[in-house]
Amino acid sequence: VANRNPQWDVRNLPKNPDRVFFVTGGNAGIGYFIAEQLASTGATVFIGARNEMRASAAIKAIRAEVPNARVLSAHLDLSDINSVRSITGLLGDAPRLDGLILNAGVLAQSDRSETVNGHELMMGTNHLGHFALVSQLLPVLDSTPGSRVVTLSSVASRFAHLDMDDLQSTAGTFKGFRTYVRSKLAQSIFALELERRLRSTGSDTQSLLAHPGGAIDGLTPSRPPLRTRTRAEHAKALPQIPVAQSKEHAAWPAVRAALDPNAHGGQLWGPRLLRTQGKPSTESVPKRWTDHAAATALWDESVRLTGATWPILDGDSPETRPESSQTSP
Ligand SMILES: NC(=O)c1ccc[n+]([C@@H]2O[C@H](COP(=O)([O-])OP(=O)(O)OC[C@H]3O[C@@H](n4cnc5c(N)ncnc54)[C@H](OP(=O)(O)O)[C@@H]3O)[C@@H](O)[C@H]2O)c1
Repeated sequence: VANRNPQWDVRNLPKNPDRVFFVTGGNAGIGYFIAEQLASTGATVFIGARNEMRASAAIKAIRAEVPNARVLSAHLDLSDINSVRSITGLLGDAPRLDGLILNAGVLAQSDRSETVNGHELMMGTNHLGHFALVSQLLPVLDSTPGSRVVTLSSVASRFAHLDMDDLQSTAGTFKGFRTYVRSKLAQSIFALELERRLRSTGSDTQSLLAHPGGAIDGLTPSRPPLRTRTRAEHAKALPQIPVAQSKEHAAWPAVRAALDPNAHGGQLWGPRLLRTQGKPSTESVPKRWTDHAAATALWDESVRLTGATWPILDGDSPETRPESSQTSP
């Protein structure tokens, strides 16, 4: 049932200066607007980005929109598991993490390539990089009351099929869009399996899904010095208005999933109008995203490929957990 809470105002979000968020890929596109909107609540927002100059342009752009915004950059390359492992050190001064937004993504590529770890680039970055990142940050999330992990999914992954025997499209099976959509399906299955495991351990952290609909740069407002839209670019994008929206609006579902006190783990948030544009509401979760056997197989394979460890989910209950494991995994 769609959530049409009229109280939710996408342009007047609940303020809370005590909160801390981390947005992967917050230096561009939808992630930039997620970071900007979260910063408008007074929260501290970390932008996880692999390029320092793009991160600093994003920070300048946010400060131009949100005076006194508290935004910081954290170096993060999701295609390199070692970079992901070093992330907790960068967050050392943050005593809490209220929301981790898994937004960064490599979109459909024409040719197959691999990460430094030898994983297919889209599966390696979008799913495996985020899988490892959540395992690194779960201790600080778990020690922050009411914290959330929000995963950016996609409509196309509703119809995808995950081939566990060929997770990385090595068998001559690479097709740019199909491999991309499979990586988004893997992320969606992981998000829901994470929610199941969190509930069974009694953790206060929740895992939610959001998707942006269809979002293109040509419909997106300028944010100098990060990006300036030309008139020609905008005019070219106008015919796509029936099926696409700006990246500013595409950020709304993830922001609501992160902030709405009535949102909860296991939900999928997306644009209300034909799943492509408009204000955020909840949607049904496709059955194939909740296939328990597929989720278990994917989890085990992701652990094998990344070396990620999950002490909190593996029975290390809050009562027995050593204090140190809550801040530095
Ligand atoms: N746009 C759509 O219509 C649409 C539809 C469905 C789902 N989505 C999902 O929404 C999310 C954002 O999409 P978008 O359209 O905003 O994409 P985008 O404009 O291409 O931005 C992608 C972001 O991911 C970052 N990124 C890529 N590889 C990275 C890596 N190895 N380490 C760290 N960051 C990395 C990029 O950083 P750099 O600047 O360094 O490249 C950039 O900040 C993605 O997860 C995408 O799958 C988008």
